[in-house]
Amino acid sequence: MSNSSEAELLHTFKGISFTTRSSPELLKSLDTFDAREDDILLVSYPKSGTHWLAGVITKLYNTQVTITSPIEFGDISQLEELNKLSSKRIIPTHLDYNMLPPNFKNKKCKMIYISRNPKDTAVSMFHYYRDNPNLPTVDTWTAFFDLFLKGNVVCGSWFDHFLSWEEHEGEKNILFLFYEDMKKDLPKVVKKITLFLSLNVSDNDIQDICKKSSFSEMKNDTEKENNDPSHTVCALTSNRKLIFRKGAVGDWKNYFTPKQNIRFQEVFNEKMKLSKM
Ligand code: A3P
Repeated sequence: MSNSSEAELLHTFKGISFTTRSSPELLKSLDTFDAREDDILLVSYPKSGTHWLAGVITKLYNTQVTITSPIEFGDISQLEELNKLSSKRIIPTHLDYNMLPPNFKNKKCKMIYISRNPKDTAVSMFHYYRDNPNLPTVDTWTAFFDLFLKGNVVCGSWFDHFLSWEEHEGEKNILFLFYEDMKKDLPKVVKKITLFLSLNVSDNDIQDICKKSSFSEMKNDTEKENNDPSHTVCALTSNRKLIFRKGAVGDWKNYFTPKQNIRFQEVFNEKMKLSKM
C-alpha cells in the first residue's frame, strides 16, 4: 500500500480507520444525533451484503421510506440533512456498537446487523479496495490479507466490529442476520425481517421480492441505472458495478493459501473465544 495515498484517503478516529469522506467533525458530533423512534438502522461491516439487505427492505414497504447515506459519511452537514428528511429513515452504518449515537440506543430503534463469513468478507473487500480510487492502493492479495487480519483497513477489525454488536444480540430491537442464510433461503430470512419490522407482507409478495432481489436481478438493474450516487448505500462509490461483484459463498477458497487459512483460523479462534458464533 502506498503511504502517501493512505494518508490522503484515511484517517483514524477512536482507533478505527475511516476514509477522509467521513470528516472528523462529523464523527465527533455523532453523539449529538437526534434519532427518531421509527428509524431503522442497517448495520454491517463493509462487504457483508448491505446493499442486498437494503434492496430487500425497501421493497417491503408500500409507504415512503428513504435509505439515507451512511450516518458517518460526509461532513458536519450530514446530521442536518438527515434531520430534514420527513419520510421514515432507513439509515445504513458501518459504525461499531460503541460509536453508535446513544440516541438510537436510548430510543430502542430497530437495528438489523448483517454479518458474513469474514473470509469471504476479506476477499470482497480486497476487490473493493483494488477497484475503488477512494481507497488506498493494495498491490496484492497477500498484502491485503495481512492488513485485514490486523484490522488495518477501513472500519477497523472485522472481529472487533462483530464482537461489539454480538454483545447486544439478545436485545429485542436488534436482529442478527447472516449473508449465508440469505443465500440459502432468502424467503425465510425475509419473513423474519417482516416479523421483526412488524410488516404485513404476503408469502406471494415475499417470493416476488426475493426474485427481484437475486444477485443477477440486482446486478442487471444496476447496469440499467445511471451512476446516481444516491443509488448506492456505500458512500465510497457511485459505481454500482463495484458492489455487485460475484455474490457467492466460499469465494475465499480461490484466494486463501493453506498457510493463510491456518493463520486466519488461529486469529479467529483467539479473537472469537468469547463469541457465541
Ligand atoms: P462479493 O464482492 O463477494 O461479490 P456490501 O453491500 O455490504 O458492500 O456487500 C457487497 C457484497 O454483497 C458483494 O460481495 C456483492 O456481490 C454481494 N451482493 C450484493 N447483492 C447481492 C445479492 N443480491 N445476492 C448475493 N450477494 C450480493
